[in-house]
Amino acid sequence: MVSTSGSAAEFLPWYLRQTVVVLLDGAPGEVMLLMEISGKVALITGGARRVGKAITLMLAGAGAHVVVNYHTSAAAAQQTVAEARALGVTALAVQGDVADWSAVQAMAATIEGHFGGVDIIVNSASLFQRTPFPTPEIDTWKQVTAVSIDGPFFVCNSLVPGMKARGGGAIVNLVDLSAWQPWPHFTAHAVGKAALLALTRQLALELAPTIRVNAVAAGPVLPPPNMEPNRAAAIARRTLLGRWGHPGDVAQAVRYLIEADYVTGEVLTVDGGERYGWGRHPG
Ligand SMILES: NC(=O)c1ccc[n+]([C@@H]2O[C@H](COP(=O)([O-])OP(=O)(O)OC[C@H]3O[C@@H](n4cnc5c(N)ncnc54)[C@H](OP(=O)(O)O)[C@@H]3O)[C@@H](O)[C@H]2O)c1
Repeated sequence: MVSTSGSAAEFLPWYLRQTVVVLLDGAPGEVMLLMEISGKVALITGGARRVGKAITLMLAGAGAHVVVNYHTSAAAAQQTVAEARALGVTALAVQGDVADWSAVQAMAATIEGHFGGVDIIVNSASLFQRTPFPTPEIDTWKQVTAVSIDGPFFVCNSLVPGMKARGGGAIVNLVDLSAWQPWPHFTAHAVGKAALLALTRQLALELAPTIRVNAVAAGPVLPPPNMEPNRAAAIARRTLLGRWGHPGDVAQAVRYLIEADYVTGEVLTVDGGERYGWGRHPG
């Protein structure tokens, strides 16, 4: 049974009043709360292409108005916006380098001008580049870590005051297994994702109880365009499920964490069991 009003809802804290109340088997006192996505405003950084696009369209399909942040992919952003609008929601593409504080402030002003603010932030933007160690390429270190660490920090820092004023919301950050396990030749990426996981937990603490902050740790769901087929097959064999996942698997996990009103500071791993692949039975 689903209800948006009634006696149970009246006893909820003010910041949960807009949620959907699900009575489990009608048992008195047993209520599960879901944040309603429909009608909310969601910003997805790096939301124009690939996994970010899947998240954008998942949230648009659930009724969220979407802001598609992009850095260089203007045409892809317009295409994603058109696909989101076809799902019946308002959608806007906003260019901005998330690693640039001034650009993020300008982006936040644009969003506030159009929508009055956001209720949902998904930090999906990432720069997947090799950084062997030691390296002479200091700029690459700075760029990769800045997109993973400064980007989500700047985006949240600029938009959270407005989120609070709107009554709260949810933030989801995209990490991967390198947040726990070092990856050879990906020093900046791994350090950046580990920091983003730490930021997830820190912001969960700082923003409770009005804003929940969680992470999805994705495994192999979409190979980079230049990946050799042999390499992609080897990665699939590393997972317990023996295959690549799909961007939609990540989008579904993001949706769960946005809706799950009693979950904060958590990481949901969507990796086909890659983290336990070392113990896979032969054959
Ligand atoms: N693909 C996978 O199998 C996989 C596995 C594990 C984790 N993940 C995580 O899931 C997320 C999405 O994955 P993906 O493969 O779709 O990522 P991706 O293709 O490597 O990059 C996603 C987007 O990030 C944006 N971006 C890069 N630098 C930016 C900046 N300075 N400002 C704003 N946007 C910037 C790019 O936007 P423009 O194109 O507009 O420049 C790009 O389209 C990432 O956080 C990634 O680490 C993915």
